[in-house]
Amino acid sequence: MIEIWAHWPRWIAAVLTVFSVLLASHPSASQSLQPSGWDAEIRLPEAPDLNPDPRVVEIEMEARVATVELAPGLAAEAWTYNGLLPGPLIRVNVGDRLIVRFTNSLPDSTTIHWHGLRIPIEMDGVPGYSQAPVEPGASFTYDFVVPDAGIYWYHPHVMSAAQVGFGLYGAFLVEDPDEDVGVSDDLVVLLSDIELTEDGVLESPNTGGSTGMAFGREGNHVLVNGKKFPSLTARSGAPQRWRVINAAKSRYFKLAFDTGEARRFKKIGGDGGLLEYSVELDQVVLGAGERADVIVVPTAEPASHLTVVSLLHDRGYGSTELRDTSELIDITMADMPVYRSGPLPELRRNIVPFSTTGATPVKLDLTLSQDPLDKSFQYGINGVPFWDATPVLANLGETQLWTVENTTPWSHPLHLHGFFFLVLDENGQPVRPLEWKDTVDIPFEETRQLVVQFDDDRPGTWIFHCHILDHAGGGLLNAVHLGLPEEVFKPMAAH
Ligand code: C2O
Ligand code: CU
Repeated sequence: MIEIWAHWPRWIAAVLTVFSVLLASHPSASQSLQPSGWDAEIRLPEAPDLNPDPRVVEIEMEARVATVELAPGLAAEAWTYNGLLPGPLIRVNVGDRLIVRFTNSLPDSTTIHWHGLRIPIEMDGVPGYSQAPVEPGASFTYDFVVPDAGIYWYHPHVMSAAQVGFGLYGAFLVEDPDEDVGVSDDLVVLLSDIELTEDGVLESPNTGGSTGMAFGREGNHVLVNGKKFPSLTARSGAPQRWRVINAAKSRYFKLAFDTGEARRFKKIGGDGGLLEYSVELDQVVLGAGERADVIVVPTAEPASHLTVVSLLHDRGYGSTELRDTSELIDITMADMPVYRSGPLPELRRNIVPFSTTGATPVKLDLTLSQDPLDKSFQYGINGVPFWDATPVLANLGETQLWTVENTTPWSHPLHLHGFFFLVLDENGQPVRPLEWKDTVDIPFEETRQLVVQFDDDRPGTWIFHCHILDHAGGGLLNAVHLGLPEEVFKPMAAH
């Protein structure tokens, strides 16, 4: 008896220790509703944080050639970050400082651009404008505070059509610990493609010459988190939150469920965090560079399958002819009773639109020309390719109203570095629900208007370009020269 009493305190202490460890490793009270191992095949590995400070995330990143497995029996030598395709998921909380110790072990120079992040120009990763290219064998440290919650991504900005096509991209998730969307199971879904020859080696980035450039080369293997048609297990009726990124160099994705009862997507966020309010969609279209934050509720008979597909999207001549729907994710319904979820919380975000009153009008025509002699194509903005361009000038704090007219036969997802904008509809009012955007699709032969306000504390040369990276390389790129005199502008060589 006495012995037992003597052991009591130690026993309690042991239980308490285990209990507090459990609590510490599950900071959120929410429990997974999915079967265990539901996302094992698809979940992206995360970059380990080497810094003990809870508000600093410090990671090592090495760009190098490595063999990756895209499907059972299909391996390829790709260009990777840390040997992974996609690169590791970077996960931080809003307001954290991120330090990336980057080394280039590729045979070519490169940089990292942090797509969508509103960070200082020195960290923007564009050679010629914001940093020198990182040469083979050299290193560079990226170091910035992450300002906005949302789903972003990273990729090089040197010969980007080639380097992104070879596999250099990764997801960047910025969480807000105070945000509760009522869903405990989440997944980052990075969509891309890769072009391999029949021998399984990387295709030349220049196939089809200038005609290939004018269309925008798509890969012949569609990938979801670096895998062809991976599997996911789901409990019928249990909600999942997907942060979807289109990291393909040209391809659009039009997500849909091919079967099952629940075929809809509740879109709660976009490029720059949560929407003003959520919307229900049958399909989610993402141009290259765009993102969507969606809640899905896979619902079907236990042990049956649902397929997430990408439907054909018409982005201009040649984009739908002789093509098929792509299969993206194979969802196996777990052999578990259907989960009856209550209604999801109503999400509201107060987004105050930029006022268009007094905004400086800027007219940008997206143009395509053909050389009368050699018949080669060249894109431009207002007829001028980036290598001959003069920048758009802007003052610190200025609001601009951009009217972007696509005069070409192909659509262009236009991306602005460093700032969010709002898209206006035909009546000059922002599209509802309001969504902070950094990339917007300008469909072929259509016009879109957007309003952007440039911060007053981040001067620099901020580029904007089509995120069909062949188009950017083919001329469809220019820059906003913010708070700087025009004379210091130098037309750029890298893209
Ligand atoms: Cu994803 Cu110049 O950008
Ligand atoms: Cu384009």
